[in-house]
Amino acid sequence: MTVQVGPAGIWDSEAIADVAAATFPLACPPDATRDDIAAFIDEVLSAERFSEYLTDPSRTVLKVTNHGAIVGYAMLVNGEPSDPGLADLLTLRPTTEISKFYVVPGKHGTSVASALLAAIVERAITDARASLWLGVNQLNQRAQRFYAKHGFEQVGTRTFSVGTQVHNDFVMQRDLRPK
Ligand SMILES: CC(C)(COP(=O)(O)OP(=O)(O)OC[C@H]1O[C@@H](n2cnc3c(N)ncnc32)[C@H](O)[C@@H]1OP(=O)(O)O)[C@@H](O)C(=O)NCCC(=O)NCCS
Repeated sequence: MTVQVGPAGIWDSEAIADVAAATFPLACPPDATRDDIAAFIDEVLSAERFSEYLTDPSRTVLKVTNHGAIVGYAMLVNGEPSDPGLADLLTLRPTTEISKFYVVPGKHGTSVASALLAAIVERAITDARASLWLGVNQLNQRAQRFYAKHGFEQVGTRTFSVGTQVHNDFVMQRDLRPK
């Protein structure tokens, strides 16, 4: 399958928000309610929010396209996590957070996710980052397996709010330093 990975632009806000709304529920645990998921999509994943992310110099949004359609996206955030407990879990600096990492369901199990992650790793190494980190729901075993097979290791846990509910994540880190 031919895919292209590259930075998204402000003109992609609507299309990425559509992909985000379709894929975010897939990362949520079974007890997440429709209302809480809808509230999160409204507050965090709207086209308006993506147009803010896409103009924020500390963030990078990458998109994967296949025959012109967006089939996946990720958002990277450079810099220290604001939560000191979370910052303590991360051992390799400077670090970049993979804040969002989503592939449309029809492309799971293809090369899309690996191509997206390879582009993230390449950018991070070019930017002299020592590590990447992310949070993943503790019940999202598919994503955990994907990250583990690509070199991420669990370094701790955190909580993550979706609407009125608080979910439990594993925190995973990948060492990018030359071996
Ligand atoms: C996470 C995601 C990007 C991974 O991409 P993908 O194409 O599904 O990943 P892969 O198929 O390469 O790898 C998934 C692995 O999990 C395995 N797997 C699938 N379902 C599983 C399950 N229920 N439990 C455990 N492992 C599972 C697959 O067999 C595969 O492992 P293998 O390569 O050793 O066989 C994609 O599934 C996705 O977008 N999911 C929905 C959104 C999401 O959860 N994003 C992550 C937020 S942190």
